[in-house]
Amino acid sequence: MINPPKIAVFLSGRGSNFSAILDAIDRKLLDAEVSLVISNDLDAGGLLTSIRRQIPTVVLERACFKTGNEFSAKMLGCLRSHKIDLIVLAGYMRKIPPAIIREFPRRILNIHPALLPKFGGKGMFGHFVHEAVISAGETESGPTVHLVDEIYDHGEILGQRAIPVLPGETPESLAKRVLEIEHQLLPETIQNYLNIIKLK
Ligand code: GRF
Repeated sequence: MINPPKIAVFLSGRGSNFSAILDAIDRKLLDAEVSLVISNDLDAGGLLTSIRRQIPTVVLERACFKTGNEFSAKMLGCLRSHKIDLIVLAGYMRKIPPAIIREFPRRILNIHPALLPKFGGKGMFGHFVHEAVISAGETESGPTVHLVDEIYDHGEILGQRAIPVLPGETPESLAKRVLEIEHQLLPETIQNYLNIIKLK
């Protein structure tokens, strides 16, 4: 049997999208293995899941390194030693160092909770996104999965799903409904993407 592609999941928070990936793997909807979890935050809720599942887990905080080069060298070392094929940013709140983007061209995916190219870019994260969608009077919102390049929320869009913005919607209610769709869209888009790319 051919070994499944090795994914590294990067996260900063509760990790519900990470759990959705693991769930899809368990249910054989996604043919991949999460071989590494990287977080910038020791308190990220998602780390409980990775530790419980005995997935190799590394916390890398930029502030613990003297230079950006040392930080990205450490990150690259982890990714190389686990022979990672694809990186998935599942709620990772830091910019990816250019050295990582160069080493993984078109091999880094991100999930964003709005319909890019609208409502993306620096500062557009968490509740700010949903507040902006509602105040702009949008009738639809929904998550986007896209490739990561050096500009925030800019790379090629791989998957997107729209849901209506309901009358009386609050940022919290919209966030909750968009998140449910994220949990379907992310594993599906990863599998679709793995089907079309050729891994070494
Ligand atoms: C999601 O809304 C995702 O779109 C955004 O960060 C959030 C992460 O949530 N990039 P979780 O940690 O996966 O629960």
